[in-house]
Amino acid sequence: MLELSVILPTFNERNNIALMVERLAAALDGMAWEVIVVDDNSPDGTADVVRALARSDARVRVIERIGRRGLASAAIEGMCASAAPIVAVMDADGQHDPALLVPMYAAITSGDYDVAYASRFAEGASTEAWGRPDRVKASGFANAIARRVTGVDLTDPMSGFFMLHAQTLRADAHRLSGVGFKILLDILATVDRPLRIKEFPLNFAARMDGESKLDRTIVFEFLIGLYDKWLGRIIPTRFALFGTVGAMGVVVQFAVLWLVLSVILGERFVYGHWSGGETTFTIANTIAALAAMTFNFVLNNELTYADKRLRGLIPLIKGWAKFFLTCTIGILSNIASADALKRMHVNDVIAVLVGIVLASVWNFALSSKFVWGKYG
Ligand code: GDD
Ligand code: MN
Repeated sequence: MLELSVILPTFNERNNIALMVERLAAALDGMAWEVIVVDDNSPDGTADVVRALARSDARVRVIERIGRRGLASAAIEGMCASAAPIVAVMDADGQHDPALLVPMYAAITSGDYDVAYASRFAEGASTEAWGRPDRVKASGFANAIARRVTGVDLTDPMSGFFMLHAQTLRADAHRLSGVGFKILLDILATVDRPLRIKEFPLNFAARMDGESKLDRTIVFEFLIGLYDKWLGRIIPTRFALFGTVGAMGVVVQFAVLWLVLSVILGERFVYGHWSGGETTFTIANTIAALAAMTFNFVLNNELTYADKRLRGLIPLIKGWAKFFLTCTIGILSNIASADALKRMHVNDVIAVLVGIVLASVWNFALSSKFVWGKYG
């Protein structure tokens, strides 16, 4: 009877996977186990190496995902694909010690715990061998904010090495975010009933071969995920991003205006006015507005809509043009609403602010559909 399934998400782990399976076999000797490698079509041919192993060892399986990326979603799909009653997730690069699987399994089958996990920051754990003091610091920081926002009180909620009943996972799998690296945190923050958690101190090793896949995008997605949990219900994440980018655009517009008028044309700024005529101001401000809008378009494309990013020259130019159209209408409605409010004797500053908010909502709603959405 199958007892345990170990899920190994992989991306470019060709040189690590055979040794990893060997180490699993040694650690789990005497148990009925299987290993499911979830590979995202790694260019280095990791999946081929696993298939070669699987031909002579039926305990080894591979799920190859095409056109997909992500540790967390790979872990979820691996766990859901297993028939084993108990599932574990760990790194395939040798940083997680397979020997811990045995006491973890004992903890889960004892009935006293729902989740067993390995912590890099528990009493008795060590990150010395990892050789990445920068990452130790960053993980400590990520853990601290994760604890704050999600209320998950563990020494290492960012750990990627854990074990639980497959049923616990399956019951809530549809509610998991599946984004980025934070799979354990995701599970703990999603399952509503209190889970009994057993912590195992981990001696986090150095990578056997290759490099870490944790990059800037993963960190950004992590912060976005936390925001979503924290304030996402009140101010939707995408709108918050869009608004932040917009606010930065204001700064860009003023900077360009200053650059053109003060630096290039050498005008002086006295009593709230640039010394040149109205025409130069209008021309400079048009350039500044176009620069700010282009800046906003690029940043929204990179961050706000990173998941729907437009790529290639033609799609980018088309997207920019659509964004320009959207913003133009936004600016007109911005001015019109401010005028209308002013006529109703509303305070000038408030009238302008309301105009800005209205235009942002308009720009957001329209560009999300028209530039990056399904009508794009
Ligand atoms: N399928 C798939 N798709 N697997 C991936 C992907 C992906 O997009 N990205 C990474 N992996 C696999 C790697 O091949 C490796 O087996 C495992 O997930 C962990 O990735 P690493 O790139 O080795 O992560 P790390 O060592 O820098 O990060 C460690 O710390 C994180 C928290 O700070 C790991 O222990 C993570 O599990 C942990 O979340
Ligand atoms: Mn790793």
